[in-house]
Amino acid sequence: MRALILVLLGCVSGLGANAAEAKRPLPTDGDAQLAYFLNSEGVYKDYMLQCAGCHRFDGKGAENRGIPSFVDSIGLFSRIPDGRAYMIRVPGASQSQLNNDELAMVLNYVVARFSPDEYDGGKFRLFSAAEVGASRPYKFDDVAEARKALEQQMSEQGWEPAPYLFGQAGR
Ligand code: HEC
Repeated sequence: MRALILVLLGCVSGLGANAAEAKRPLPTDGDAQLAYFLNSEGVYKDYMLQCAGCHRFDGKGAENRGIPSFVDSIGLFSRIPDGRAYMIRVPGASQSQLNNDELAMVLNYVVARFSPDEYDGGKFRLFSAAEVGASRPYKFDDVAEARKALEQQMSEQGWEPAPYLFGQAGR
């Protein structure tokens, strides 16, 4: 029922619900930022309408359908430049109907919501519309290869992102 209401809301108000909210200055303190994202209805709605159909409301995705979990994983990507570009360039994000500002907010949201450890000690650097705009036009020839290269970089740091089965037989 909730999903239905969200879909209806999306139709009435148009996409990009967080445009007005995005104008408000974001808190700079890590904990306050986390609270901001967790309480922002606009970005929640954008996530639900544009991403949750595949990634699910709880961010767990569906491993057996090749949709990786964000939980305690997606924040790791946001720590390295290639990982940040990857988050922007994956088809689900780059080809969504969100504008650059809205997509930046949704990427901040997924880290805040599903990988909140990134906010400890203020490690997390927010995505901006400019950063999204710079990477978004560059499609991957092979997104699974790009993910593999990132896994390699991460394992050198001792980081372990969620399992990724996209591109394997049957998925
Ligand atoms: C139609 C289904 C679908 C939708 C809708 C979708 N995604 Fe995805 N997403 C996938 C699949 C499949 C993958 C794995 C393949 C890939 O890396 O692109 C993925 C991977 C990702 C990854 C990389 C995760 C990792 O661990 O490698 C990110 C980040 C991501 N999506 C963000 C988003 C965002 C943000 C949205 C909404 C704006 C979104 N996706 C909408 C299907 C979807």
